[in-house]
Amino acid sequence: MKKIVLACLLMGVSVLAQDTSKWICPSEVPQPEDNKLTKERIELGKLLYFDVRLSRDDTISCATCHSPSRGWSDEVPTSKAVGFQGRVGPRNSPTILNSAFQKKQFWDGRAKSLEAQALGPIEADVEMNMPLDMLIPKLNKIQGYKELFAKAYPESKGVITKEYLAKAIASFERTVISPEAPFDKYIKGDKNAISAEAKKGFELFQGKAHCTDCHDGWNFTDGSFHNIGLNDGELTGKELGRYNVKARPAWYGVFKTPTLRDVTKSYPYFHDGSVKTLKEATVLCSEGGRYENNVKNKSEYMKKRDLSEDEVDAVVAFMHTLTGPDVKVDIPTSFPQ
Ligand code: HEC
Ligand code: HEC
Repeated sequence: MKKIVLACLLMGVSVLAQDTSKWICPSEVPQPEDNKLTKERIELGKLLYFDVRLSRDDTISCATCHSPSRGWSDEVPTSKAVGFQGRVGPRNSPTILNSAFQKKQFWDGRAKSLEAQALGPIEADVEMNMPLDMLIPKLNKIQGYKELFAKAYPESKGVITKEYLAKAIASFERTVISPEAPFDKYIKGDKNAISAEAKKGFELFQGKAHCTDCHDGWNFTDGSFHNIGLNDGELTGKELGRYNVKARPAWYGVFKTPTLRDVTKSYPYFHDGSVKTLKEATVLCSEGGRYENNVKNKSEYMKKRDLSEDEVDAVVAFMHTLTGPDVKVDIPTSFPQ
């Protein structure tokens, strides 16, 4: 009898150890072979990230919509009022925290790497509205930038091309990683780092609420795409999600599972920014979507989980423990001339 109890205990311990490892942040960020991180590349990328001259009328930088003081995002439902001359983009700005770990960028996964992603918003008319064939000559007239590109990418010999521009911006983005949150302390063994309610929330998150069906692992995403039933019936335009990238039936209305790291800061929520609070988002996700029925291609993981209000509150309390202190960045105050 004793032996059985001991065996169960040991099994319990090993299951626990196995389960904990997937919650621990990796110590290294993935880097492509042809764009390894160096100090020069990161510094150059940072200047470009904050430089409004990358937009057509010198008013918008990447940081306008992905600001370090607002969870590397903005706080408007879509990209309303911050894009070029106040143009409204159709989608909510996601955080760029941990985007270096994502296999696919954008809500619909249409870019395969940060390098492939970086040039999109510069040219998009609702974002920075700056055609690259105007921007590249503009940058090549800035002597200070030419020198920095020559240092960061010696083979460029200081001639700025869109490839080097994308590589530099991507290098800076690879440094935007979520800092240690109370949850990380807890998972590494500091049992007092989070409240009893949050611990209960973590149990529910993995258990009854089934959130880990999709928000799994240390970055709280499966890196995959799902239709969670935000919209009813037939979809149009941008709501088609990944289906716009390729019209596969399984991609109808699917969007990328976002990270929940720093999620308290990245409101409003969902690709359309239609939900203001974490509580509402949790209710929606645990009720099987906004529309229970009549949603074409809704994920089979989206089911009614019958959480009580206390249980919803506990899941929300848990998600609060995923927010760490703000990533410290020295925002550049002067730019190359
Ligand atoms: C006008 C606002 C705006 C500006 C300016 C902007 N972005 Fe974005 N960004 C967005 C929106 C909206 C999305 C989501 C678009 C989509 O998925 O279709 C996005 C998506 C992204 C993503 C993908 C994140 C993910 O989780 O998939 C990254 C990375 C990113 N932007 C980086 C940048 C960089 C780098 C710049 C500057 C070169 C920039 N953005 C400029 C609004 C903006
Ligand atoms: C079927 C997979 C799936 C399940 C299960 C799931 N989610 Fe999600 N979640 C997603 C996807 C996909 C999105 C983005 C959908 C969109 O915007 O169209 C999302 C978005 C969110 C957001 C908004 C984040 C942001 O930055 O906009 C929150 C918060 C969230 N989920 C929490 C939860 C919680 C809590 C649970 C458990 C009750 C849960 N999710 C269950 C896939 C899932």
